[in-house]
Amino acid sequence: MGAKPFTNPRGTRDFLGTDLVLIKHLERTASSVASAAGYHEVRTPLFEETRLFQRSLGEASDVVEKEMFSVPRRGAEGAEAMTQGFTFRPEGTASTARAYIQGGFAASAPLQKWFYVGPMFRYERPQKGRERQFTQFGVEAFGAQSATLDAEVVSIAVRFFQELGFDEQLEVRVNSMGDAADRENWSQVLRDFFAEQINDGDQRCSDCQSRYQRNVFRLLDCKAAKCIELNQGAPNLFSVMGVAASEHHQQFIASLKNIGLTVIDDPSIVRGLDYYTRTVFEVHYPPLGARSALCGGGRYDGLVEEMGGRSTPGVGFSVGFTPTELALSELGLPSPDSIADLQQQLLPDVYAVAVADEQRPELFVICQQLRAAGIRVDVDHRSKSLKAQFKEANRSGATWVIVLGDDEQVANKIVLKNMQDKSEQVVAQSQLVKLLSTA
Ligand code: HAM
Repeated sequence: MGAKPFTNPRGTRDFLGTDLVLIKHLERTASSVASAAGYHEVRTPLFEETRLFQRSLGEASDVVEKEMFSVPRRGAEGAEAMTQGFTFRPEGTASTARAYIQGGFAASAPLQKWFYVGPMFRYERPQKGRERQFTQFGVEAFGAQSATLDAEVVSIAVRFFQELGFDEQLEVRVNSMGDAADRENWSQVLRDFFAEQINDGDQRCSDCQSRYQRNVFRLLDCKAAKCIELNQGAPNLFSVMGVAASEHHQQFIASLKNIGLTVIDDPSIVRGLDYYTRTVFEVHYPPLGARSALCGGGRYDGLVEEMGGRSTPGVGFSVGFTPTELALSELGLPSPDSIADLQQQLLPDVYAVAVADEQRPELFVICQQLRAAGIRVDVDHRSKSLKAQFKEANRSGATWVIVLGDDEQVANKIVLKNMQDKSEQVVAQSQLVKLLSTA
C-alpha cells in the first residue's frame, strides 16, 4: 500500500456536484442583485500586506488578534519578518478601501459602488457555519454619506435573501456607532458602567474580561446568558451621540421603512471590527432561532483616511455563504424543483457513443463541431463497450444520444436518439448541428 492519502486542511471544503451547483447559484444571485443596483464587480488579491488588516480592522479585533492566516516576508529577519509579511484576506472591506485609494478615485470619480464574491480566510475553530476558508458576497460603496446609500446597501442584502426564497419574515436590525468623538465618549461611559462587573471577576465571562480594555463595545454583544442580563440598563450611545450622526440614523431608518422593510432597533449590534462609524446593521431571519443573523455591515466613514487616503465616507456589508447554505438547508431551499433546474443547466445536451474503437477519432471530430456550435457534449475516453457507453449516456442525463457505427461512418450519417421518447432517426452528419439547435 502507498503512503497515507492527503486530506484537505481542516475548515476547508472541496466543492463538487450539488454543493457546487448551489454555490454557483449563490454567486449568480449575488452578482445579479448587486448589478441591478449599479454596483460593479471588483477583484482584489487574495492576500495583502499584514499591516493593511492591522490598521483597518484594529489590532484588538478578534480577527487580527487570533484569526489571521499570515506568512512572513522572505528575506526579513526576526519579528519584522511577520510585521512586514502578508496575510490571506480575512474580509473584503480593507482591500477594497486600499484599491479605492490606490486607484485615485477620490479625485476622479468619488462615488464608487463595488461588489465582490470570493474566498476569505480566518484561522477560526471550525464549527457549524464557520470555516477557515469561506466565501463572502460583499458590497462596498465609497464617496457618499447620504442615508439613502446605507438603505440601498441594505436593500441589496435583503434582495439577495429574497431571491433565494426567504420570505417577508426577513428583518433588518439596526444600530449606530456614532461618529469618532461619539465612540470615544461612549467607550468611557461604558467603561465606567461596567467597571464594577469587571472588577468583581465572577460577574462577567472571560471574553468580556479581556474585551473590557481592548474593545468595551463588544461587552454589549456578548451571547453568555449572565452577561446578557448584566447588559440590561447599560448606557445607550444615543445618550451621548452628536446631532449629525443622530439625524443620519433617523433618516436611515426612515429610508428603510419607505421601501417596505421591517426595521428593528437593536443596541446589541456593535460589530467586531474597529472601522465602523454611524450605521451598523444585520439582516436576520427569526425562524432560524439562535442562528438568525444572515449578514452584517455598516458605515466606515473614517477608514479611507485612516489608511492614508483622502477623507471619504463608505458603507457596505458582507454575507458568508457558509451560514447562508446552512440556513437554506434548514428551510428546505432552494426547492427540489429549482435545484433540478439548476442542475439541468450543467448536464450535457448530447452523449456521443462509438459502436467500435474505429469510429472514435471521427466521433471526436463530430463532438468538437457540436461544441463549437454551443451544444454541450460528453463522450467516453476509456474504450468502454457499447453497452457501458449507453449506461453512461443514461447516467449523464443527456437529452440526446448520437451513435456512430461502421455503416453510418461510410455514409457520412449518424444515429440520433431522443432519450425522452426513445425515438431514433438516421441523419446526415452535416445536418446534426441544425437539428440539435432547433430541437
Ligand atoms: P463580518 O461580520 O466579520 O464582517 O463577516 C461578515 C459575514 O462573513 C458574517 O456575517 C458571516 O456570514 C461570514 N463569516 C465570517 N467569518 C466566517 C467564517 N469563519 N466562516 C464562515 N463565514 C464567516 C465583515 O467581514 C465586514 N467586512 C462586513 C462589511 C463589509 N462591513 C462593511 N462592509
